[in-house]
Amino acid sequence: MKVLVVGQGGREHALLWKLKQSPSVEKIYCAPGNAGTELDGINVPIADNDVRGLVKFAREEGIDLTVVGPEVPLTLGLVDELEKAGLKAFGPSKAAAMLEGSKVFSKQIMEMSNVPTAAFKAFEHFERAQYWVNEQTDRPWVVKADGLAAGKGVLMCANKKEACEAIHRVMVTREFGVEAGANIVLEECLVGEEASILAIIDGKTIIPLEVAQDHKRAHDGDTGPNTGGMGAYCPAPLITPDIMDDILRRVLIPIVHTMNMRETPFKGVLYAGIMMTADGPQVLEFNVRFGDPETQPVLMRLKSDLAQVLLACAEGKLDTLEPLEWDPRPAVCVVMAAKGYPGSYPKGDVISGLDAAAKLSDVKVFHAGTQMKNRSVVTNGGRVLGVTALGDDIAAAKRRAYEAADLISWNGGWCRRDISDKA
Ligand code: AMP
Ligand code: GLY
Repeated sequence: MKVLVVGQGGREHALLWKLKQSPSVEKIYCAPGNAGTELDGINVPIADNDVRGLVKFAREEGIDLTVVGPEVPLTLGLVDELEKAGLKAFGPSKAAAMLEGSKVFSKQIMEMSNVPTAAFKAFEHFERAQYWVNEQTDRPWVVKADGLAAGKGVLMCANKKEACEAIHRVMVTREFGVEAGANIVLEECLVGEEASILAIIDGKTIIPLEVAQDHKRAHDGDTGPNTGGMGAYCPAPLITPDIMDDILRRVLIPIVHTMNMRETPFKGVLYAGIMMTADGPQVLEFNVRFGDPETQPVLMRLKSDLAQVLLACAEGKLDTLEPLEWDPRPAVCVVMAAKGYPGSYPKGDVISGLDAAAKLSDVKVFHAGTQMKNRSVVTNGGRVLGVTALGDDIAAAKRRAYEAADLISWNGGWCRRDISDKA
């Protein structure tokens, strides 16, 4: 079959690399892709938010399965439009993508489904939000812009004064987008370690993937500003089989039921950001797509045919699949970033050492912010590469990943040195 992957990050390179290993995939495209997807597949210069352009390409090219990576095209209704054109797609409908597209909606669905999550209140007027928070006892708060804000719309506040300032930034200054900041969620601050639960769901059947853990802060020891994710490892020992069972029972199954009851069934991959608190697992957020960089170590360990899994999901036939097979060895992904990330950063620096790193066994260098220029791979984003390795244990996987990362360099390129130490 012909497959189209939509997006241009490390997640999309990992999806394309894994999908291409399927004997059923004869041709694989990525729109718009990066230098890595150009090396492993065929790039198509269509932006990931160009719904009409993507549907037109899929129709004309006779694409058998479109796999949508990022949240933006999902919330724009790309999957709905592909299906209207009679094409198969992996990902949720526009209505179901609201679980990520609106934090207010997401919290309401959680409340309705009795899913363990931080206590919250939603507001549409900033004066009311500030008035309400001022009436509360002084304690930490989390202020969240309702809409998509490229992962930046969550503000941790130590007290109510900071919460009032955060409310102002989101709802008055609209720092995170005019639409995204029209409403907010004010949440209790939870404490604990986080893990990323990803499950493939076709509205009836739920197939959890092996659990991964992300590293959101920029610097070693979980310090510095928040980022899109500086590295990940899989599996995450934090989530034991018993806890996973609990999450399935108290989070995933109830959400699937509620979405069905509302006649907006969830189909695609549901990502539950979980915090392990003293009161057990609590949901911090839902995403309606694969995590980045979690996908890189997760897919590195998947032995089953991903194309068949995603196709079965698109067709509503997950119940016909054999259980997924996993490499028992853990995987570690180290993100290499451009100088200045997560702030502003330069682009166009030539990356050296990619060939040497590719020669190491059990290593795959996934590209994120890269581009081909005059036959060289150059930087084109903040998170540039996801150097991923398997090892007999987590320490061996970590050693291998850093061995590969240390062969790669460009002007100002850097990475955290402690990815997977928490495991
Ligand atoms: P979100 O986009 O909702 O996952 O938020 C991004 C990050 O903010 C999470 O990964 C957590 O580290 C943190 N966060 C979100 N909500 C809370 C909360 N209620 N308590 C503590 N930390 C939170
Ligand atoms: N790694 C966090 C995310 O994909 O949202």
